[in-house]
This record gives sequence, C-alpha cells and structure tokens, in this order.
Amino acid sequence: MTDPFQNVDAAGPEFIHVFANAMEVRQSEPAMETIVARYLDKLAFSEGSLTVEVGSGAGAIARRIADRAAPGAVIGFEPSKGFVEEARIRAEGVENLSFEVADGAALPLPDDAADAVVMHTVLSHVDKPDTLIGEACRVLRSGGRLVICDADFSKSTLSSFANDPLDICAREFTSHFVTDAYLVGKLRQLIADAGLILEDFTHETRVSSTREGMRPWVDRVTSLMVERGDIGQPLADAFVAEFERRADNGTLYGYQVFATAIALKP
Ligand SMILES: C[S@@+](CC[C@H](N)C(=O)[O-])C[C@H]1O[C@@H](n2cnc3c(N)ncnc32)[C@H](O)[C@@H]1O
Repeated sequence: MTDPFQNVDAAGPEFIHVFANAMEVRQSEPAMETIVARYLDKLAFSEGSLTVEVGSGAGAIARRIADRAAPGAVIGFEPSKGFVEEARIRAEGVENLSFEVADGAALPLPDDAADAVVMHTVLSHVDKPDTLIGEACRVLRSGGRLVICDADFSKSTLSSFANDPLDICAREFTSHFVTDAYLVGKLRQLIADAGLILEDFTHETRVSSTREGMRPWVDRVTSLMVERGDIGQPLADAFVAEFERRADNGTLYGYQVFATAIALKP
C-alpha cells in the first residue's frame, strides 16, 4: 500500500475527515505547540511579508503561522481538494490566511515572492523531497527562510518494554503511512544540495500518553492488517484493547523525535 498522504483525495472523504481531526489533535498537544512556537519565534514577520506553508493539510499549522504573521499574508498550498475545503472552513474569519490547491513541486507563485516557506510533516510523505525543496528555493526571496519540521519516523515507538507487541502498531504505521521514515537523517544533505545555508537544526521529543492522538492510527493499522489477511479480528481487537488499557491506566507511551531545520536562501 502506498502512503495515503501522497494522494489524500484518493483515500476518500472518511480518511480526510478523520485525519483532519487527528492532525488538529496532534498539533494541540503541548509538545507540538512548543515545537511550532520555537520555529515561528525564529522567523521575523513584517507587515507586508508573505509566508507559505507547503502541504498545509487541514490548516492546523497554517492557522498558527497566520496568528504570528498578522497582518502579513499566509498562503497554505495543499494538493488535496478535500483538505483545502476543510482548511477553509476551519480558518473562516482569519483574514490574512488563504488556501489553494497546489502541489509543492509546482507552486503558483513567481520567483522570489516569499519571505518564508514552511513544510511541516510533509517531506516524509513525498517520493522526491529534493524537488519540493528546489521549488521552495525558487519562490523564496534572497534572505528568506525555509523551515522543515518532520518526525524521524525511523525512531518512533509504542514500546514500554523489550519485544512489546503493541509496538507492531507503530511499525505498521511507519510502513504504510510514511514514505521515507529516514527523511530527517537526509535533511542536512538535501539542504546543502539545494544551495541553502543551514542556520538551525534542533531535535525535540513528542511523548504521547493519551488516546486521542493515536487511537485513529491504531484503528487504521489494525484494520489494514485484518484486510490483508495477516491477522484475524480477535488479534486486532486485542491490540485495541491493550492500547485502551494503557490509555486508561496511564502507561501508554508513544515516543517520537521531531527535527526542525531552518535554512537561509543566500
Ligand atoms: C501529515 S500531513 C501534514 C499536514 C499539515 N502540514 C499539518 O501538519 O497539519 C502531510 C500533508 O502533505 C501533503 N502532501 C503530500 N504530497 C505533497 C506534495 N507533493 N506537495 C505538497 N503537499 C503534499 C498531504 O496532502 C498532506 O496534507
């Protein structure tokens, strides 16, 4: 199965609705708010500035950027029509924020138009991250900045002990909902190859101990395993029951590393 984030509209309206909400829940976690606030703190927004989010999904990050950048303009470009519709509804009344359907490989902007480009958990979902970085460079003005924030999915885990069977859900997620789990390890080279200057590269952890952010993924990966015929429904139910048991007794331990790179266009 191909990572559904490569073509969200093909995954259908139910996927769009469930995962628009899941991304909202993820972003509202304190650890994620801190990660985003830290990189936004490092961008200087002026009155006439233009900030672009590439792969803006349902707009959870774009709304936070717009809040900081106001009255500067923010445009979220997103290839999924379904996500763009959700994003527009969720951002109603935010005057400096708009969304357009566009692929990150071909942004409808002239050269040197943007002061900053943000890619938040996007490059780990594409086959050719260098193409998106190159396009971001084209639209950035000299002195503008590219922010890439992504999870190092190769290190994500749900394990609380050696050979923890619940970790199969984390590994299934990485296999089927991520295109390149090792993207973060390649970022320095990708940035250098694009001719950008890396100014800042930080790593922060996200520890999830509540059910809200992870339960839709556990449902989805266990259903997939059943659909493929790899496991039967009783084992899928047991994974969900174990997940719920840990969520109830406070022992749920989802661990991810998030990396943020800030790069300058000379
Ligand atoms: C995990 S979501 C992140 C959405 C949003 N940045 C957030 O954090 O809430 C990944 C997003 O990347 C988008 N995406 C996938 N391929 C893309 C491409 N070639 N160009 C731009 N966006 C892309 C998907 O449609 C999806 O909205």
